[in-house]
Amino acid sequence: MIEIRGLAKRLGRRQVLQGLDLDVRAGETLVVLGPSGTGKSVLLKHIIGLMKPDAGSIRIDGEEIVGLSEEQLNPVRRRFGMLFQGAALLDSLTVGENVALAMQEHARGLDEAEVRRRVIERLEWVGLQAAAALKPASLSGGMRKRVGLARALAMDPEYVLYDEPTTGLDPITADVINQLIRGMQKQLHVTSVVVTHDIKSAYTVADRIVLLYQGRVMFDGTPEETRRTDDAMMRQFIEGSSQGPIQPV
Ligand SMILES: Nc1ncnc2c1ncn2[C@@H]1O[C@H](COP(=O)(O)OP(=O)(O)O)[C@@H](O)[C@H]1O
Ligand SMILES: [Mg+2]
Repeated sequence: MIEIRGLAKRLGRRQVLQGLDLDVRAGETLVVLGPSGTGKSVLLKHIIGLMKPDAGSIRIDGEEIVGLSEEQLNPVRRRFGMLFQGAALLDSLTVGENVALAMQEHARGLDEAEVRRRVIERLEWVGLQAAAALKPASLSGGMRKRVGLARALAMDPEYVLYDEPTTGLDPITADVINQLIRGMQKQLHVTSVVVTHDIKSAYTVADRIVLLYQGRVMFDGTPEETRRTDDAMMRQFIEGSSQGPIQPV
């Protein structure tokens, strides 16, 4: 599991994380909701060690990762798959090569045949086996996200982090991604953190939902508890209202 305590991060003039406490339990899909600019991506970057906090602790299965060197972080990062906002594919490579790249980067001595096998298998998982030779630029937004997901799963991660996996997609395509996230959790037993401001997506994929605002977790509950809550912030977020304790930026 992931245990985050007192995480603080200042970026420019903003105190983005303000003593954030959060647990991600083994095997669950945790959804982190929050308005744009509230620090959701910053939180994910801390979990995989791409950003260093000013204060606080992050333990991955008991191991403190705050303060580790880049070299010490490598074996930790290998346990994570990340689907970046916008999928972050390389347009000069084919879809298959993009997925293969994630394996080569980790240089775990996979031979070529094994890399090929995994590329095909991962693309099958996301329903894109026919797209292996295409360039990402020719794909729709939803397909690009699916390639990003295939790449995130390249190295059999124990943890998968999703940054806005459905943002910018039409509702039907968004549901394809939601079902894939659900399916991966069931089949691969990964522990997932899904960052989003899409409340419908949250209800579909989450075992537990938290609301991030002003650098801290302001609400924590199951999807059912979330639906029924009278917490003013969570209600405002669910209803998408400009009136309430959450200030529009
Ligand atoms: N590398 C950075 N340098 C300076 N400010 C940053 C950086 N990354 C994020 N921020 C700021 O931190 C805040 C939170 O950003 P982010 O985590 O991307 O929000 P979101 O919840 O939309 O993912 C924003 O105000 C953003 O401008
Ligand atoms: Mg973000």
